[in-house]
Amino acid sequence: MKTTRLLDLTTAMVLLVYVVFSPPLVSGDQGRLVSMTLVRDAADLGAFCLDGSLPAYHLDRGFGAGSDNWLLQFEGGGWCNDIASCSDRAKTRRGSTRFMSKTVVFSGILSNNASLNPDFYNWNKVRLRYCDGASFAGDSQFGNGTSLLYFRGQRIWNAIILDLLPKGLANARKALLTGCSAGGLSTFLHCDTFTSYLPENASVKCMSDAGFFLDAIDVAANRTMRSFYTQLVSLQGIQKNLDPNCTNAFYPEPSLCFFPQYVLRFIKTPFFILNSAYDVFQFHHGLVPPSADQTGHWNRCKLNVTACNPHQLGALQGFRKDILGALMSFFRDSSGGGMFINSCFDHCQSALEETWLSPTSPRIHNKTIAEVVGDWYFGRDKEAKEIDCPYPCDQTCHNLIPASTTDFLASNAPGQNYRGTLGRSQADPNDLIW
Ligand SMILES: *[C@@H]1O[C@H](CO)[C@@H](O)[C@H](O)[C@H]1NC(C)=O
Ligand SMILES: *[C@@H]1O[C@H](CO)[C@@H](O)[C@H](O)[C@H]1NC(C)=O
Ligand SMILES: *[C@@H]1O[C@H](CO)[C@@H](O)[C@H](O)[C@H]1NC(C)=O
Ligand SMILES: *[C@@H]1O[C@H](CO)[C@@H](O)[C@H](O)[C@H]1NC(C)=O
Ligand SMILES: *[C@@H]1O[C@H](CO)[C@@H](O)[C@H](O)[C@H]1NC(C)=O
Ligand SMILES: *[C@@H]1O[C@H](CO)[C@@H](O)[C@H](O)[C@H]1NC(C)=O
Ligand SMILES: *[C@@H]1O[C@H](CO)[C@@H](O)[C@H](O)[C@H]1NC(C)=O
Repeated sequence: MKTTRLLDLTTAMVLLVYVVFSPPLVSGDQGRLVSMTLVRDAADLGAFCLDGSLPAYHLDRGFGAGSDNWLLQFEGGGWCNDIASCSDRAKTRRGSTRFMSKTVVFSGILSNNASLNPDFYNWNKVRLRYCDGASFAGDSQFGNGTSLLYFRGQRIWNAIILDLLPKGLANARKALLTGCSAGGLSTFLHCDTFTSYLPENASVKCMSDAGFFLDAIDVAANRTMRSFYTQLVSLQGIQKNLDPNCTNAFYPEPSLCFFPQYVLRFIKTPFFILNSAYDVFQFHHGLVPPSADQTGHWNRCKLNVTACNPHQLGALQGFRKDILGALMSFFRDSSGGGMFINSCFDHCQSALEETWLSPTSPRIHNKTIAEVVGDWYFGRDKEAKEIDCPYPCDQTCHNLIPASTTDFLASNAPGQNYRGTLGRSQADPNDLIW
């Protein structure tokens, strides 16, 4: 299975939906453009993107009371698990800073506007660009004389931290490590080491957005995600960078520790899990990967939940139950933990103004994501753990695919949330996908 191809396919399908329905663009603050910093010292550390280019980040300086606080966000964008898909990726913005936009929009949790991001607006904020194809966790390379690929995500992570420490990170008072999708997964993998770089008296926490990739059984009864990650861990030399207590516990299948659900109980730093229970990426790649639906029975349902038959809806409800099951002990037992698991067909909700905090943003118990995350981070609520009722109960979703006709078609009705997050107010539509 080649991720790039799958992702492009899905992107194409999603874009098709977008073109057809073209929902109204959201007005308001478009976010701030922040320029790229290449990590010059990375070469000395052997920290390169897939193609050998230097890694990079974008830093927006904090101010006022936030000057000593730091928020780091891992960029997401799928993975490459074999030489062919990594070679393809090395020629794109997912594998090389050469092809990346040199500015990115900082919105949602990265916004510097107090009314759009009340708890973190004045922090130092960093977006770590993703160019290694393995959630910043590989350490290996491939060479055969004619082509060379660097699998150096772990070194990129270290190089960026070493670059930021003298810029003030070393004196952080508060810090939050976050990320979305493949970057959300990175937060599970790097949370405790992040803590180890910072002052002992700093308040350090981590939050994954859409990174809780489940060790799912797909609709053909295969563990497609598990096979995929096993190949990825092996190709990119990830195993040695996984939590050793976890890999010991999971011997002889240490690569399972790449899955959040298995490594979670070994993480000591306070953790927040933000995820849609019907995460669209996981729906399309974990529950119903193309390999599990070669006849195409799921094609319509995958693009329009309203078109799913009862059997398919049952599988989706089963997926939600499995996610909640995997989170149950965290929900019950983690004292410093938080969560927001809503029943939406979405993927990544913290980096966009309209899902992070807006009059129409997703809510559980009438609380926005920004509110629950802030309550958790600052200890304003000791039980910042929200779980939604099952689909189709939630009328506040920003679904990436049409779901529950009533709210999709009533998008312009007053008091209703508009649908079609595909029209989200971001500059680069590809960043909306995975
Ligand atoms: C902050 O966002 C609010 C709400 O969108 C907007 O009215 C205001 O102009 C923004 N402030 C700045 C400084 O951009
Ligand atoms: C090296 O690997 C690349 C990527 O798989 C392949 O295209 C190329 O043919 C290989 N070269 C040799 C000499 O095997
Ligand atoms: C941590 O300790 C250092 C050195 O004593 C001090 O300067 C700093 O203010 C402390 N930070 C916090 C968050 O208390
Ligand atoms: C999935 O499982 C079916 C049987 O349930 C098997 O025939 C098929 O080869 C498997 N496909 C993959 C991609 O593992
Ligand atoms: C592994 O577990 C031991 C005992 O609980 C603990 O002291 C140690 O810090 C853990 N190591 C890591 C890398 O988490
Ligand atoms: C979704 O499917 C339903 C049921 O088949 C159909 O009525 C509706 O028009 C579809 N919506 C879109 C946006 O394709
Ligand atoms: C939900 O919260 C908003 C403020 O964010 C408040 O105005 C509204 O009355 C609340 N609605 C309910 C049903 O509690």
